[in-house]
Amino acid sequence: DRPLTVLGLESSCDDTAAAVVQHTPGQMPQVLSSVVAGQTELHADFGGVVPEIAARAHTEKLDSCVEQALTQAKMALSDVDAIAVTAGPGLIGGVLAGVMCAKGLSIGSGKPLVGVNHLAGHALTPRLTDQAAFPYLMLLVSGGHCQFLIAKGSDEFTRLGGTIDDAPGEAFDKTAKLLGLPQPGGPSVEAEAKNGDPQRFKFPRPLLDRPGCDMSFSGLKTALLRERDRLVAEHGGLRVQDRADLCAGFQAAVRDVLAEKSRRALAEYLALNPTHPTLAVAGGVAANMAIRGELETVCAKDDTAFLAPPLALCTDNAAMIAWAGIERFRAGHQDDMSLQARPRWPL
Ligand code: KG4
Ligand code: ZN
Repeated sequence: DRPLTVLGLESSCDDTAAAVVQHTPGQMPQVLSSVVAGQTELHADFGGVVPEIAARAHTEKLDSCVEQALTQAKMALSDVDAIAVTAGPGLIGGVLAGVMCAKGLSIGSGKPLVGVNHLAGHALTPRLTDQAAFPYLMLLVSGGHCQFLIAKGSDEFTRLGGTIDDAPGEAFDKTAKLLGLPQPGGPSVEAEAKNGDPQRFKFPRPLLDRPGCDMSFSGLKTALLRERDRLVAEHGGLRVQDRADLCAGFQAAVRDVLAEKSRRALAEYLALNPTHPTLAVAGGVAANMAIRGELETVCAKDDTAFLAPPLALCTDNAAMIAWAGIERFRAGHQDDMSLQARPRWPL
């Protein structure tokens, strides 16, 4: 039950990150530092993350991120109790870069190594920021993930459903691309949608006619493409109002699907009779005010607390990995040099 200080490393997608988190039992965990080096510019010309470029950039940046994280936390490597690293799921080159770096640090310092599942990192964030009590319901919505989880323990998650194709963030990004808006698509589509009429285009709400919590977003993109092409053919280009209406219609469809599936996930979760029912969100899409507002409404109807951690801890970061490392380490979990990078690693 002693205080623990853990250095966390994250490199599973296009952010290189290092952080130091400290926790004394009975107190709020402290994020002593959280350094995130993004790679958006490196991939800008390619319309998506290029795995080889990402892996190389992680290899180049990990060392300096670790150094910055330790300096900002006013610590030396010898002061930490363990080194936690994302061991998957993610792009294999990036995950390997992180795991190798962590192994090197662990050998060099003699500090224990803890492999962390990236999704568990996201899913345990409400305990880092709000000391959420198990069990709580979690909605992960980002550019890469979309799923409902019931977090029952630091290593015990039940998946209720998720996307069967694109993640919503990916759909926002593709929509922006189709409409000539800047990347990342989420913020630019949200800004356009503010001036648009969400009713003008009847976009599909896929899978709402089916039971369960699975979702689908790729058909939405196809429907949007069809409308765009029709408008362009009719008017010789996309008019300002058309673009705003397309964004508003698209965003409303994503919002409705997430809200309805959240209602169903909540019903399954509430059947467990949690004492302090909580729905927490994580992932970049949780920044969307229209979506967030609708989820808040859903929770209010069910007397469920709605938790949205600060955005910097909702998107990819290493503080969540350090924190998940603390939870795993306290539970007696530790890895050795046989720790493998796992590109696929379901919770
Ligand atoms: O969690 P995140 O930073 O990275 C991963 O995908 O793991 O999420 C990034 C995604 C991008 O697809 C971005 O377009 C989306 O989150 N996003 C948003 C908004 N801000 C970011 N989507 C909708 N509305 C937003 N305001
Ligand atoms: Zn993530």
